[in-house]
Amino acid sequence: MNILIIGGAGYIGSHVTREFLDIGHQCTVFDNLSSGLRENLFAEAEFIHGDIHDLPSLLDTMKNGSFDAIVHLAAFKAAGESMLKPEKYSHNNISGTINILNAASIHGIKNIVFSSSAAVYGEPQYLPIDENHPTLPENYYGFTKLEIERFLAWYDKLKNIRYASLRYFNAAGYDVKGRIKGLEQNPANLLPVIMETACGTRKEMQIFGNDYDTKDGTCVRDYIHVNDLASGHALSLNYIIKNDKSIIVNLGSENGFSVTEVLETARKITGRAIPAKITGRRSGDPAKLTASSAIAQKLLNWKAKYSDMETLIKTSWDAYSK
Ligand code: UFG
Repeated sequence: MNILIIGGAGYIGSHVTREFLDIGHQCTVFDNLSSGLRENLFAEAEFIHGDIHDLPSLLDTMKNGSFDAIVHLAAFKAAGESMLKPEKYSHNNISGTINILNAASIHGIKNIVFSSSAAVYGEPQYLPIDENHPTLPENYYGFTKLEIERFLAWYDKLKNIRYASLRYFNAAGYDVKGRIKGLEQNPANLLPVIMETACGTRKEMQIFGNDYDTKDGTCVRDYIHVNDLASGHALSLNYIIKNDKSIIVNLGSENGFSVTEVLETARKITGRAIPAKITGRRSGDPAKLTASSAIAQKLLNWKAKYSDMETLIKTSWDAYSK
């Protein structure tokens, strides 16, 4: 197939592009490089330096490309920032996606795989979280992802565009074959913060609270390896095309690790001290999040292969220690 990957130079996008190339698809990456990196591009994929706010450029790209499908990963994703700068998230995540949908509709591209997020659920009402869990986002970022899912449902109904909305849990790790070299700039997520502290780029990291009702008092999350996320994109695209049906699926490992467990495993694997101090809670952090990925297993025959904590940390350290 011929696939347009919007946001394909980013952390997750580059792993997704690698996956589609590996299984023999033709890929074009469209990215404005605001957080994506040139070093994440592959020689086999065409690159268009473009912006989703530039509708003529999107229209040209789609007109000239004869694409079978779009994978859309171009979004801002910092939940904390979204509460301070909602305009930025409305503009990029919502308006940008409407441009993509309108351009796809004009040029008859009928399949979209969309990067959604577990942030659509908000504070968990039960665990593990399945796709029927109420969607009550606690931050504006999660709200933008949920709104986009609603647009997708309407474009499915009105324009016959089929979509797979993939609700990622905590994306982590680096390509198990070491082919992705670009490191995220100014990361706020736990794994890259631990890695930067292990490298000495940061002197010390913060543990946001140790008084939660969890096994050791620190927050528990479901970390999912980016290679596993990437295979979920390829499988879900096959599914929506074969079945002519849209889907919403969780992608998580179904395992919960506390911040302390992640940190201790990182200390063991890197052999570095990784200084950490316990500070206050970060606002909006639920104590515990774990996924049910039963739907992905059932519909897509997808299963996380690389999402054990050792592989998550080892592949991250391979990228950071170079
Ligand atoms: N944490 C720290 N110190 C840090 C960074 C994080 O203690 O420097 C803690 C957080 O408090 C949280 C855990 O590590 O308990 C994970 O935090 P992240 O910021 O890595 O991830 P979140 O769980 O907040 O959110 C991530 C993505 C969201 C996505 C969500 C889905 O950033 O976009 O997973 O589960 F919606």
